[in-house]
Amino acid sequence: MSPTKTEKIRRHYDTVADTYDSHYDHHRGKKYHTHLSNHLMHALPQGGNLLDIGCGTGLFVEKYMKNGGKAGTGIDISGKMVARARHRCKNCDFIIGTGEKIPFADNSFDAISSVLVFSYVKDPQAMLGEVYRVLRPGGQVALCTLGKKLITRGIPSLYKIGEKIRIKHVVMKDFGEHYYDEREMQELFDGAGFSDIHVKWCSFAHIDMFDPIFDFATKVEPFVEKRVPQLAFNIFVSAKKE
Ligand SMILES: C[S@@+](CC[C@H](N)C(=O)[O-])C[C@H]1O[C@@H](n2cnc3c(N)ncnc32)[C@H](O)[C@@H]1O
Repeated sequence: MSPTKTEKIRRHYDTVADTYDSHYDHHRGKKYHTHLSNHLMHALPQGGNLLDIGCGTGLFVEKYMKNGGKAGTGIDISGKMVARARHRCKNCDFIIGTGEKIPFADNSFDAISSVLVFSYVKDPQAMLGEVYRVLRPGGQVALCTLGKKLITRGIPSLYKIGEKIRIKHVVMKDFGEHYYDEREMQELFDGAGFSDIHVKWCSFAHIDMFDPIFDFATKVEPFVEKRVPQLAFNIFVSAKKE
């Protein structure tokens, strides 16, 4: 992905920042985001000092703090998303910047999260190197992002069409995203020096489904994630810095 792609992502999120939360405010959006957040929450140490990469409007930082977090920090390339996050969590720190170059000292955080961001990142090795550096020994990272599998293969083309016919959607644009499979994730986290690496598939109910289908999908989601993970579309990774 060229720097112009990152710039395109930044501009897009600046444009949708004021409407982004409405995407996650309605019944499906809330359930979808809460479902992903719960996966991360279970993998991260509670009551710690959190950094959320690609924090957007601060949805996950807010949840972590409500769950007893000691301190919350978010970083995002979009200034407008950061402004919304500052408004949402007044007692937390939000800065404009990229996960590939984190402006904090070594060993600064107990927990690092990233929700629906990793597929956008131009240099995943650089980001994971930075995550490793700023995580304290014994700290945990957890992220989830759209994964690479048969059911997600058509998404880039769908997004290209969406962009051509100017669909107004918070994520539906051709950003040259990269989707990862389990082996790629394992190798990336291994390469960055992490241990206790767990990679799994999550999500069966998607925010863009119609209500009755979404409601059915949420009911069978725990079964799908456990027994038929081939049908889940987000990839989730948690790991530890020894
Ligand atoms: C789909 S939104 C997810 C926002 C938030 N994590 C949430 O759960 O609502 C993706 C966010 O990632 C940010 N982003 C994309 N690439 C990034 C990068 N390299 N570093 C930091 N933020 C990035 C975008 O600006 C956008 O706010």
